[in-house]
Amino acid sequence: MSTSTNVTWHAADLPHDEREHLIGQKGCVVWFTGFSGAGKSTVARRVEALLLRRGRTAYVLDGDNLRMGLNGDLGFSDADRTENIRRVGHLAQLFADAGVITLTAFISPFRTDRASARALLPEGRFLECYVATSLEECERRDPKGLYKKVRAGVIGEFTGITSPYEPPESPEILLLTEGREVDDVAGEVVDRLEALGLLGA
Ligand code: ADX
Repeated sequence: MSTSTNVTWHAADLPHDEREHLIGQKGCVVWFTGFSGAGKSTVARRVEALLLRRGRTAYVLDGDNLRMGLNGDLGFSDADRTENIRRVGHLAQLFADAGVITLTAFISPFRTDRASARALLPEGRFLECYVATSLEECERRDPKGLYKKVRAGVIGEFTGITSPYEPPESPEILLLTEGREVDDVAGEVVDRLEALGLLGA
């Protein structure tokens, strides 16, 4: 799909494992997926804070934020969502290559798009994290008032209502958020990262 020709990947001056040894952590991508209002950004932000307070370098790539800049030319058609996730996948790959614990918070409704993002990372460095909050609960929360607008017919192509969502079949992490505290849910993610040896010594 690339029209750039005659380009060469320029590698770092030092081996990747030396970079990770020097940084003291392993770059990876925790890919949060779920409905709008599921809690993806909220949990990702809390994981980011918990990791930073432990001296780790973490960063959230958030759907709304990226759509205000880099992906501001994209809407919510199936094709635009696919392009959104394609770009984010590459961005996350670069962040992880830099050694950052990269937390992505995008609805990312299509399985094939999430699989393409996964394929960019080495084995074990892409953790799909399904924020499995039910559509009913998301609509009840409606933090941005979007579900109300969808029901009023003001917004079209809304995930779960007028646009599809394909849930992960075997996510590395399955997060249940209903009736739980954010710290509890975020702590579960941090514990998994630690158990997988991604947080360094
Ligand atoms: S994705 O489907 O392409 O992965 P992304 O995560 O970037 O979506 O953006 C979703 C956010 O955009 C939602 O949380 C919501 O705030 C906003 N939004 C605005 N319109 C829509 C829509 N039609 N469907 C889903 N989200 C929308």
